[in-house]
Amino acid sequence: MEIGIDKIGFYTPHFYVDMEKLAHARDTDPGKYLVGIGQEKMAVAPTTQDSVTMAANAALEILDDEDKQAVDMVLFGTETGVDHSKSGAVWVHHLAGIQPRARAVELKQACYGATAAIQLAMGHIALNPESKVLVLGSDIAKYGLRSGGEPTQGAGAVALLISANPRILALDKEQALLTEDIMDFWRPIHSDKAFVDGKFSNESYIKFFTTVWNEYKEKTGRTLDDMAAICFHLPYTKMGRKAFRAIIDEASEEVQESLKERYEESIAYNKVVGNIYTGSLYLSLLSLLEQGEELTEGARIGLFSYGSGAVGEFFSGTLKAGYQQYMLGEKHQEMLDNRKELSIEEYEDIFEQSLPTDGSAIELEVEEDPAPVVLAGVRDEIREYINK
Ligand code: HMG
Repeated sequence: MEIGIDKIGFYTPHFYVDMEKLAHARDTDPGKYLVGIGQEKMAVAPTTQDSVTMAANAALEILDDEDKQAVDMVLFGTETGVDHSKSGAVWVHHLAGIQPRARAVELKQACYGATAAIQLAMGHIALNPESKVLVLGSDIAKYGLRSGGEPTQGAGAVALLISANPRILALDKEQALLTEDIMDFWRPIHSDKAFVDGKFSNESYIKFFTTVWNEYKEKTGRTLDDMAAICFHLPYTKMGRKAFRAIIDEASEEVQESLKERYEESIAYNKVVGNIYTGSLYLSLLSLLEQGEELTEGARIGLFSYGSGAVGEFFSGTLKAGYQQYMLGEKHQEMLDNRKELSIEEYEDIFEQSLPTDGSAIELEVEEDPAPVVLAGVRDEIREYINK
């Protein structure tokens, strides 16, 4: 029985910052952000969006009534959850209208959470072929104004429906994994901004990638020539390029050319959204499938997931015939095109805004946020979500 990705939904907030303008405001050569980091725009979340609302907006895009009855597990990968106790999965389960006899839980390991969720979903469906699992990856990446990580911020969510007989990507059973206790990037409980050892995080990413890639090859007997494309976790789009460079010579010249072209397609969304942590790899997959036209049935796509701290995994899948008809490319392009550009001052204002931490209530202005699901306020320490 094939198990894999049946539907992919995506949501990103309606604000962005232009990276060239951010570079000028930071007295930096724009070439560093646009080419050196490889980012053109950075999504910014208003206070009416958090990891729960973004995940719910991505989920609502793909779930029909039949899915809502069939989903019996909601797995929410995030590292910017909104509660230390209650999982975002329970809120999304409710906001998306999923039937009640379901399991709902949040998973955390930096940017790796949604990949862990997919692997758990595969096992669940192998035992329960009629089930569908809703996997969510949703985050707001914040490093701080004028910090080294600032140009690699972003916000957004991806929702994946995992099922038997998937219509988009059948996942292969083999994976290669690596876990090591390192401090390349972390966020202490008290802080809403991440701490990072930037250069070390880049080196660790590449080390993890080459390690799991080599192990994947050994386990499967497959080589780079068997890959039609490789999608990467993309903290910024230059990162995947650097990792790819470490192995690209393994492919024949012809394959190298086509892998490079597919890489450009796989970063189109990420370079105008930024790092969305848990959803980043799946946004890259979405970008490849919606922006590229070359891939056909049976094409194998490699997927590299990396979550600082750190866990890395390489796995793969093959494309299903007619997958194109299940993609929502036009809708996603429209969402990206209709965003409002923020001035640097507006972005800095929004960045500094936060919900009260002293128990007082707040009512947020939801009319200006075009998303269906929004955070309307906080009362008695309870977040009030609405689906407009
Ligand atoms: P930095 O030190 O400000 O930048 O921080 P830099 O000096 O290394 O420059 C970056 C690149 O721009 C360099 O190229 C420069 O040469 C180039 P590279 O050597 O990398 O190929 N450059 C220029 N290019 C063209 N024109 C110019 C120009 N000037 C310079 N004029 C850093 C960069 C990524 C470290 C920083 O942004 C940062 O700390 N980001 C956050 C951490 C991060 O994203 N790490 C990635 C790996 S870890 C990961 O992926 C996990 C993560 O997603 C978290 C999770 O798992 O939850 C982050």
